[in-house]
Amino acid sequence: MDGLPIEHADRTGRRYIICVDDDRALLDGLTQQLEGAFSATHDIEATESAQEALDLIDQVYHDDDVVEMVISDQVMPGMKGDELLTSIHSKYPKVITVMLTGQAGLDSAIHAINNAGLSRYLVKPWNDDEFLMTIRELLENYYLEEENARLFKELQLAYQHLRDTQEQLIHSEKLAIVGKLTASIAHEIRNQLTILGYAEVIKMAVPDNRQVGKYVQNILATRNRILSIVDEIRQFARNQIQTYEKSPFQLTEVLDTALSIIGYDKEAKRRTIEKDYQISPLLTMNRDKIIQVIINLFRNAVQATTDDGTITVRVSENQHHVLIDIVDDGCGISSDQIEAIWQPFFTTKGEQGTGLGLDICKRIIEGHNGHISCQSKVGVGTTFTIELPFDD
Ligand SMILES: Nc1ncnc2c1ncn2[C@@H]1O[C@H](COP(=O)(O)OP(=O)(O)OP(=O)(O)O)[C@@H](O)[C@H]1O
Ligand SMILES: [Mg+2]
Repeated sequence: MDGLPIEHADRTGRRYIICVDDDRALLDGLTQQLEGAFSATHDIEATESAQEALDLIDQVYHDDDVVEMVISDQVMPGMKGDELLTSIHSKYPKVITVMLTGQAGLDSAIHAINNAGLSRYLVKPWNDDEFLMTIRELLENYYLEEENARLFKELQLAYQHLRDTQEQLIHSEKLAIVGKLTASIAHEIRNQLTILGYAEVIKMAVPDNRQVGKYVQNILATRNRILSIVDEIRQFARNQIQTYEKSPFQLTEVLDTALSIIGYDKEAKRRTIEKDYQISPLLTMNRDKIIQVIINLFRNAVQATTDDGTITVRVSENQHHVLIDIVDDGCGISSDQIEAIWQPFFTTKGEQGTGLGLDICKRIIEGHNGHISCQSKVGVGTTFTIELPFDD
């Protein structure tokens, strides 16, 4: 057969053809013939016994090379050819096995076809050209099979990749739909809120009633808070990085305020809360947003810990940043979820969580030119680290 892929087979190590025959003269004839045809691509080895052949094969594989074919005589002292090929086939099933036999040995050859995955048997005496052609054909099939296996693997990988991409697409599609929905709801709420402006009119209608004045004040303050939440939701839906009004605040004072708000929480009250403020810089920030981040992280820490748990707030620094660590000794996060926790709507809390807490934290910190990261070990605990740039 022409156009052999033999020379092009993609292999870096050495490839062997091993001949086994106890008759030295026959063995020499055989190897010479094979060397004439395949010495450019293969190492041809001659062995005089089955055991010698088995040792050599183990050695070749030990050296990370490959035996592609074993050609064995059937009738040999000690282990016969069919036994040898059976044993090779069970240990190295990819090796091509060829048996040489006289007319009398045909039964063993058929036995070997069934048990040794025998690729071919040749009845002595054979025609030299036919012999070489047979060997070529066998090698060629071997490479085609290898190539098929490689293509199959590539196909499987491509398929896996396609599935992953599809899943990502579906995920972002879902987010886009949620985004649109959220934007229209936010828009509607904003419209409806204008009615609360009439509270001012009520106040003007009863200017002397202090009680009404107080209620109106509360209504308007609440309306403003709802407006600011709605604006935030709209920005979230549009996937914008928020820009906030910022002014300088003492970081530890801001953290203390967040901790005092958290202190109202029944569950948080049962945790030991430790403060480790190593520095107390003045930082330009949106105070309310930073408080929101700390509350979110704290709430997660409380939910991850039991009553004897400890949550630590640490403020330290590296070369360019202030570091705020929220450390808990709770359940921890497994490594296969550690990336996912930042995705909006990822939650392990079922109905109890919406999975937006960390996404909001990340947006707020990025809106402060900062960075937030997480390190965690299951059963040991979790540390969230916020890095914020120092003021110039
Ligand atoms: N300190 C922590 N310890 C262990 N797991 C945590 C911790 N913080 C976050 N997680 C994991 O990350 C997930 C996402 O957190 P995230 O705050 O975004 O949403 P959530 O807490 O589930 O819901 P919510 O929107 O109410 O905050 C949590 O469900 C939890 O599995
Ligand atoms: Mg949360």
